[in-house]
Amino acid sequence: MEVGKLKIDMPLYFAPLAGISTIGLRTLMRELGCGVTTTELVSCEAMIRTNPRTKRMIRLSDVERPAGVQIFGHDPVAMAETARMIEANGADFVDINLGCPVRKIVKQGAGAALLQDEDALGAILEAVRKAITIPLTIKIRTGFYSDKLTYEKVIALAYNCGVQAVAIHGRSREQGFEGEADWDVIRDAKAKSPLPIIGNGDLTHYQKAIDCWQQSGCDGIMIGRGALRNPWIFLEIRAALAGGNPELIERDSVAVVQRLAELLQLYEEPRFQLLQLKKAIAWFCTGMRDSSRFRAELFKLGDFAAVIDLGVAFFAKQRWQGGIQERERFLMAGHG
Ligand SMILES: Cc1cc2nc3c(=O)[nH]c(=O)nc-3n(C[C@H](O)[C@H](O)[C@H](O)COP(=O)(O)O)c2cc1C
Repeated sequence: MEVGKLKIDMPLYFAPLAGISTIGLRTLMRELGCGVTTTELVSCEAMIRTNPRTKRMIRLSDVERPAGVQIFGHDPVAMAETARMIEANGADFVDINLGCPVRKIVKQGAGAALLQDEDALGAILEAVRKAITIPLTIKIRTGFYSDKLTYEKVIALAYNCGVQAVAIHGRSREQGFEGEADWDVIRDAKAKSPLPIIGNGDLTHYQKAIDCWQQSGCDGIMIGRGALRNPWIFLEIRAALAGGNPELIERDSVAVVQRLAELLQLYEEPRFQLLQLKKAIAWFCTGMRDSSRFRAELFKLGDFAAVIDLGVAFFAKQRWQGGIQERERFLMAGHG
């Protein structure tokens, strides 16, 4: 797949997940077969106020290439300035969040609000496009209201403004995370789009991911929550596409926990290492035997090494149970 001048060998994206897909976890996912990563959403207003915490959010590791930084906001000038800073910082592409359903962000006229405001959206896309030379992509929902989907208009506008790829989460803003991602709508978006389309939503099993990818005709797919519960999903998809047997992938939960701990130590300050390791382990263990008791014990710990030891002891006793189950409700809120 080509996104402007960027060649993407394996368009298997790890979805941006606010507070979760930080540099360590993204690097781990890349080591586990995902092909492209994007940071969580970053506020343009915070970036131009040179908020140091926000600056940390735009860091990318050498392993996770190609990688983009996702921004959100309403003011074209602030968006353009932020995009310029991101290019100077070495990102491979800039992505604009047009899917965040969270009320506070929508009220600012950002995120999914822009799906129904063509003038504001056009001004932002043009300003950002002019500000950078690296590819510009957007991540959208199908529309703001379920009975008035705007994806076709938004994609056409994006194309006219020089955007180079679109990721689409197959739900409207009104839906939040309820119901199922509508892959018929994603297929329609792809059929009508002059731009490469990356389909997203509810890909929780390698077979479903491959079926949705092939049936929708999308150029790529993006997986978020599915990878938190099954970090081997990208390797499984690669194996299946290569004609191998994904069931034979080596699934070593203990090694995953240990590697994530190493990466967090490499990239994060100590106070973030502890929190991020606990959170990642908590998502990963959900649905496993005895996980509630384990999680409660985990969150009482204040020491990084103790968290690793407890995690290793827990996962060493688990049998792999296959990630998110069909129709299971898991992480039903987020920023896109
Ligand atoms: C906890 C959480 C945080 C999220 N944060 C972001 C974000 O920062 N930017 C974004 O575009 N989407 C965000 N999303 C949406 C995901 O990227 C993705 O579109 C959505 O979860 C559907 O894909 P999935 O079913 O594979 O998870 C978030 C979702 C969740 C659950």
